[in-house]
Amino acid sequence: MWLSVLLVVCAIPWGESQNCRGEKPRLRDCDRLCDKQGNCKIKAALLLPKNITFGACIGAVEPVLELAMQHPAVQDAFPSWVGFEWQTYDVTDCDAAYAVISAIDAYNDCAHVFLGPACDFALASVARISKFLGGTGIPLVTTGGFSFDFVKTKQTCKDEYYMLVRTGPLGFKDLAYFIIDLMKQ
Ligand SMILES: *[C@@H]1O[C@H](CO)[C@@H](O)[C@H](O)[C@H]1NC(C)=O
Repeated sequence: MWLSVLLVVCAIPWGESQNCRGEKPRLRDCDRLCDKQGNCKIKAALLLPKNITFGACIGAVEPVLELAMQHPAVQDAFPSWVGFEWQTYDVTDCDAAYAVISAIDAYNDCAHVFLGPACDFALASVARISKFLGGTGIPLVTTGGFSFDFVKTKQTCKDEYYMLVRTGPLGFKDLAYFIIDLMKQ
């Protein structure tokens, strides 16, 4: 988790370069981490369904995030001058269209990082556009994204899910190869 936090801090736009549309980034005041008074805060958007039939729903994940934020390892991962807060957005029943509109709401509320979605279809639609949002893209951290395309390289703007950070090491393809190797033995 703390590694993801570091990645996110590094990925947040600081200025000058080009964005994924080849333009100079148009930063709103609130896209910057620090305001004019020098108060610095990362604003995260938790994009998950409220519906508890989904494993990764707001009711299950938000308390875990609260606990994680109290852990010294996580607290030490943030520089002392940077605060962290989050807001939740309901991705109604993991629906892709609701996922996009929730992400747009979160962008309008000046989120610096998206946590979720976790369901594949919702994740795919948000992860495809997050590279175009904000200054040079809004990082998206998720525990989901196991199917093939999410595992592909994400190093340049040309990569479909450029701003996506998967926290898990595995994808379905790796799992399949693992089981095949196991059977062979
Ligand atoms: C929650 O999601 C399930 C599965 O998609 C659906 O059948 C159910 O109607 C939903 N419940 C509510 C309260 O929206």
